[in-house]
Amino acid sequence: MRERKVIAPEELRAQEEICGRIMERVTADGQRPLAMVDTYGCQQNEADSEKLRGYLALMGYGFTQDEFQADVIVVNTCAVREHAEMRVLGNVGALNHSKKAKSGQIVCVCGCMVQQQHMADKLKHSYPVVDLVFGPHELWRFPELLEQVQTRHKRVFATAPSDGAVAEGIPVRRDGQVKAWLSIMYGCNNVCTYCIVPYVRGRERSRLPGDILREARELVAAGYKDITLLGQNVNSYGKDLPEPVDFADLIRMVNDIPGDFRIRFMTSHPKDATEKLFRAMAECEKCCHQLHLPVQSGSDEILKRMNRGYDSAKYLRQVALARQYMPDLVLTTDIIVGFPGETEEQFSDTLRLCEQVRYDAMFTFIYSKRVGTPAASMPDPYTREEKQKHFDALTALANRISLEKHAAYEGQVVRVLIDGETGRDEYNLSSRTDGGRLVHLKGDPSLVGRFADVKITASSTWALYGEIV
Ligand code: SAH
Ligand code: SF4
Ligand code: F3S
Repeated sequence: MRERKVIAPEELRAQEEICGRIMERVTADGQRPLAMVDTYGCQQNEADSEKLRGYLALMGYGFTQDEFQADVIVVNTCAVREHAEMRVLGNVGALNHSKKAKSGQIVCVCGCMVQQQHMADKLKHSYPVVDLVFGPHELWRFPELLEQVQTRHKRVFATAPSDGAVAEGIPVRRDGQVKAWLSIMYGCNNVCTYCIVPYVRGRERSRLPGDILREARELVAAGYKDITLLGQNVNSYGKDLPEPVDFADLIRMVNDIPGDFRIRFMTSHPKDATEKLFRAMAECEKCCHQLHLPVQSGSDEILKRMNRGYDSAKYLRQVALARQYMPDLVLTTDIIVGFPGETEEQFSDTLRLCEQVRYDAMFTFIYSKRVGTPAASMPDPYTREEKQKHFDALTALANRISLEKHAAYEGQVVRVLIDGETGRDEYNLSSRTDGGRLVHLKGDPSLVGRFADVKITASSTWALYGEIV
């Protein structure tokens, strides 16, 4: 077993002391400085941004969404597809305007995108607006890095290659009061040939069950009702820990915490989702019967070239087993269209698999070439137009099935958690079923954060509509 690298508690205390020093400096004039954190990418990044805000709050910053008001701007980036990177670069470039208007404004860019050397170089040479660049491995020492920029008045770049470590005790400032992200592990040890995540997020590292449970208990005590356990592949949780514990065990431990809340998780890799996991999901009353099981492709040849570690038959067996344990399972997936060399025939295998499984929702992406990944050097003869055609066909299929599945809810009574206001008159509240389906409702705003039984009266491709019973 590889050694699990942990950031020492003293080092984290030192960061908190730096926060105190920054607070004295930036509030010396009696004014409250403001920070803006802009997040791209997955839930893991959302969770990281909550830590960045935790640190910023400790430094005395308030928060704004207006870049012209912000004294510190942090852009937390994603590298998973080119489109995400283009959006980041465009928006970072546009910060020239706010920086000119707001004297002393500090612009920080962090997250997955900058952990790629070519992107860090690009920011260094072509984006002088950026003062601080740091990768996911350096997040725990954000205060130290920011202080360097503030006191030395020079640009700082911290993106050295790293396998990553586990840092416990970073302050967290969560966005909502109903739903919470809870990271249980970091990094990824798989090598899906298209994917940049393992290169930028490092090796798989699990948090200790004790640390996870402590955080979960705090969340429940603080009134959170919906906890999502996060990891790139939760099925390999615990493999790097000295004690024998796996993800199914962890679900049972979280489920044993007293309180009225529910548990979700993502993402579960099909190669190692187990019967033990499905049994735990079925037996734990707080665990939602919701499974995000990304298939990526329905073609065995493409799955092999993606290095996914399963074929379509194994995937379908897992789906059948999961549904055997949980007949009401809500199943979602991710699919990549236009993987290098994907033929018409191989694409129709994907359509067939989706027809067979009938997902409640599908997240579909056109393949995006990522520098340094194995797939980037595979021959990719098909044009963007051909891929777009397949993408449109798959989206149409996904929408049709979602619409049919949603229509089947009409007339049923389902339990939902009311999670926020929509700002609209007719359906002023939003909520989620145990399976994670969006339900719009009408009701008193004081119901936010409560569970309710709702009769579904109408449906669309994207949402359900109901009345509280
Ligand atoms: N760890 C998760 C996925 C994280 S990335 C898992 O293994 O399921 C989220 C999704 O982005 C992936 O499931 C995949 O469908 C998509 N994706 C990843 N790399 C991509 C690429 N290079 N091009 C297009 N889509 C990609
Ligand atoms: Fe990427 Fe595969 Fe890891 Fe998911 S499991 S993050 S797709 S390498
Ligand atoms: Fe997530 Fe994007 Fe990084 S999907 S792990 S933020 S590359």
